[in-house]
Amino acid sequence: MKNNSKIQLGNDGPMVSRLGLGCMRMSSIWGGPTPNEQESIATIHEALYMGINFLNTGDFYGAGHNEMLIGKAIKGRRDEAFISVKFGAIFHNGQWLGMDLRPIAIKNFINYSLTRLGVETIDLYQPSRMDGSVPVEDIIGTVADLIQEGKVRHIGVSEITADQLRKANEIYPISALEIGYSLADRQIELELLPTAKELGVGIVAFANTAEGLLTGEMKTPLPENDYRNHFSRFEGENLINNLSKVEILKQLASNKGCTPTQVAIAWVKEQGDHIMPLVSMSRRSRLPENINAMDIKFSPEEMNTLNTTFAIGAIHGGTYLNR
Ligand SMILES: NC(=O)c1ccc[n+]([C@@H]2O[C@H](COP(=O)([O-])OP(=O)(O)OC[C@H]3O[C@@H](n4cnc5c(N)ncnc54)[C@H](OP(=O)(O)O)[C@@H]3O)[C@@H](O)[C@H]2O)c1
Repeated sequence: MKNNSKIQLGNDGPMVSRLGLGCMRMSSIWGGPTPNEQESIATIHEALYMGINFLNTGDFYGAGHNEMLIGKAIKGRRDEAFISVKFGAIFHNGQWLGMDLRPIAIKNFINYSLTRLGVETIDLYQPSRMDGSVPVEDIIGTVADLIQEGKVRHIGVSEITADQLRKANEIYPISALEIGYSLADRQIELELLPTAKELGVGIVAFANTAEGLLTGEMKTPLPENDYRNHFSRFEGENLINNLSKVEILKQLASNKGCTPTQVAIAWVKEQGDHIMPLVSMSRRSRLPENINAMDIKFSPEEMNTLNTTFAIGAIHGGTYLNR
């Protein structure tokens, strides 16, 4: 990352790498096999070497496997990494059961995460969703207590509404909002992004490729065992419509001499200096391509093509984000 290689998360928040490494797919998700662990650890090492220090995980990714993997990767080099952890989601046999954000549960979760990661402090700790049964005050207040105890450095939130973000930020300054954002999912531009900007909350934007749709590598129909068959975005007519938009992305990328994935990541980065693209990369071969995306700029005409082709509503059907 030659230019703008750091980003500040929140008005008074930490400086971290401009591109984040999403580690979720280094563990078994949706019941799939666990990817090659050696390659995952090598990817984290190479990312650190190449200037990416923001590592994103959740205590429920692979039922703790993901945190243990990161723990192995950063052993002896804790200071090189900025660790972001989500908590509160409850899974059984790979199925999501709901959230547990009771203060007593949060105080339990943090200790398991610290042990699995092998660290004394988590840099950014965040509920993975809000839970209507526990007041926002109690959830954020409990994480604030963990800051006092030295177990957490900064508070983040994930996938919440503008009202919830305001409420959370009144209780304790929120450094970052982790949220799905891509050319294919732009609804947050209507209310949530302006609210975050007003409050000075940094954006950690995930799913930049929209479950692979924007990589340009997706073919219809998907293989029968592909988990994306559960999302309406990838069904029948929806997929045909959506891939027709991706053809325009592919053409624009080809004209610029880059890949559709690079354009998808660069577009997210170009939406604001406070927005960090958080990209899943489970193999070293992904790093150069995605890091180089951080240096891509668009002409006004190119930006206009992307914004009109992928206007809100242009992509049909949803994913688990369901907004
Ligand atoms: N807060 C939340 O609710 C939430 C939800 C989901 C994810 N997240 C976090 O956000 C991170 C990113 O999210 P995501 O995995 O859903 O989306 P993503 O970054 O768009 O990744 C989707 C897929 O794109 C692939 N990919 C990456 N670079 C590529 C390239 N240059 N060419 C072709 N394919 C490429 C990845 O493959 P490989 O993995 O094989 O390299 C991955 O399978 C996750 O790792 C996780 O840490 C947060």
